[in-house]
Amino acid sequence: MIHFLHKKRNASAAISADMLDPNNIPHHVAIIMDGNGRWAKRRGMPRSYGHRAGADTLKRIVVAASDLGINVLTVYAFSTENWKRPDTEVSYIMKLMNDYLRKNLLELDEHNVKLHFIGDMSRLNPVLQEAFQQAEADMQHNTGLTLNVAVNYGGRLELTQAMQKIAKDVQNGQLQPADITEQTISKYLYTAPENDIDLMIRPGADKRVSNFLLWQMAYAEFWYTDLCWPEFTKETLIEAILAFQGRERRFGGLK
Ligand code: IPE
Ligand code: IPE
Ligand code: MG
Repeated sequence: MIHFLHKKRNASAAISADMLDPNNIPHHVAIIMDGNGRWAKRRGMPRSYGHRAGADTLKRIVVAASDLGINVLTVYAFSTENWKRPDTEVSYIMKLMNDYLRKNLLELDEHNVKLHFIGDMSRLNPVLQEAFQQAEADMQHNTGLTLNVAVNYGGRLELTQAMQKIAKDVQNGQLQPADITEQTISKYLYTAPENDIDLMIRPGADKRVSNFLLWQMAYAEFWYTDLCWPEFTKETLIEAILAFQGRERRFGGLK
């Protein structure tokens, strides 16, 4: 039986949602959408081609996550470190985000998705900031999957800004230093109140955190794949959830 299951799980064509335990779907999944550039290069195409394909993958995976019963999906789209890339690549990615919204907003809305951008938006082009705010407002009454898109996001920046806000509230007397607990800090994060990550997925073969959700991932289960983000499918997501369901989460305790 074990041998049979093992074989079945290795053949991705055989993977389907009915293999999942519906009572153990991760509540909050995070994805580092990596490998766009390498995927494109391998096909003799420019990196921008990979970013465009990656945006299409995001549309499909949001729908898949919603179908599978995931409640919160947080995806890394652009980090505070990604500004180091050539201007042409950065502006391409920014333009792509605008295109993405224009192209997919209606469909995401039909899937009852609640959209939320996380990160420091102040460095973005005002037109893009406006498009983000409008998209959030249009979908604020939706009650399905919460989609957090991290743009100009860094885990360290998020914590730094949280500390600045806490310091301000202490200064104006709203908060006493002795009252600052882990729960207090959690409330000041971009992802509040849905902070804790259950499953963290990184495609693109690298096995690192790259400054994503440093506080939120305290007890996240990690899953990596060599597939690049443009190749990521609903079956890949199911494979990751199957692996999650096979893990024993102890949270520091004993089983
Ligand atoms: C992820 O793909 C997208 C962003 C970081 C914006 P990459 O662009 O990092 O692709 P690789 O890792 O170079 O292949
Ligand atoms: C992480 O990928 C950021 C995003 C996917 C948006 P990077 O490609 O920027 O990470 P490193 O540089 O390989 O760590
Ligand atoms: Mg990368």
